[in-house]
Amino acid sequence: NSQLPLAGKHALVTSGPTIEPIDSVRFIANHSSGKQGHAIAAALARQGATVTLVCGPVTIDPPLGVKLVSVDTAQQMYDACMAALPADIAVCAAAVADWRAQSPQDHKMKKQAADIMTLNLVKNPDILATLGHHQQRPDLLIGFAAETENLETNAQQKRKAKNCDWIVGNLVTTSSGADLSDDLVFGHDKNTIILVRDGTSEAWPQMPKTDIADKLVAAMITTLHQKSTL
Ligand code: C5P
Repeated sequence: NSQLPLAGKHALVTSGPTIEPIDSVRFIANHSSGKQGHAIAAALARQGATVTLVCGPVTIDPPLGVKLVSVDTAQQMYDACMAALPADIAVCAAAVADWRAQSPQDHKMKKQAADIMTLNLVKNPDILATLGHHQQRPDLLIGFAAETENLETNAQQKRKAKNCDWIVGNLVTTSSGADLSDDLVFGHDKNTIILVRDGTSEAWPQMPKTDIADKLVAAMITTLHQKSTL
């Protein structure tokens, strides 16, 4: 629908975890459900954007009307995002593994006699930071910061380091040692965020992830109007 505010705009969204193989039957993963990223992709599509959703392994269904690119690893997510450029808006909501096994084995590794075993890890490419410093940097680039402490300071630092416009910050555990299965965010339908934009930070009350998505997209539309790119 050409009347919608984001008609003609391309939005790139990353969502879900990445998984990094250790051997043919084992991998490194995290608790991301993809719910927040998928809700943002759906909200962007409802406002008329053409959406490319690059998504790690999740159990939830992709939103209707988006172009889904399913990946497993951070490197695959990176490649898919670069291939999706140019984009007017990019939202990096995926919980990308910072590290991958240096030498994934193509067979099941045998149990060793020693009580300690070492796995060498190498750093994955940072998709958000790459987009932030890219020649084809999206007009509006949004990252997430899932933190267990010092949320605002870390979010501000992340915004600068990765050269993105906004950081959506959320606290991912209630207290140290909390069981991840009862924490506040992973896999749940509600979220509590702070929105960090050029030095200012705004705390939003807890609300459904779908409402957060709609409000974030409304704010994106306002900002793009101010930048006169809409
Ligand atoms: O540095 P940290 O992983 O906490 O940063 C989180 C933000 O960076 C999220 O928006 C996440 O999607 C993005 N990220 C990324 N590629 C990575 C690591 C994080 O795009 N390799």
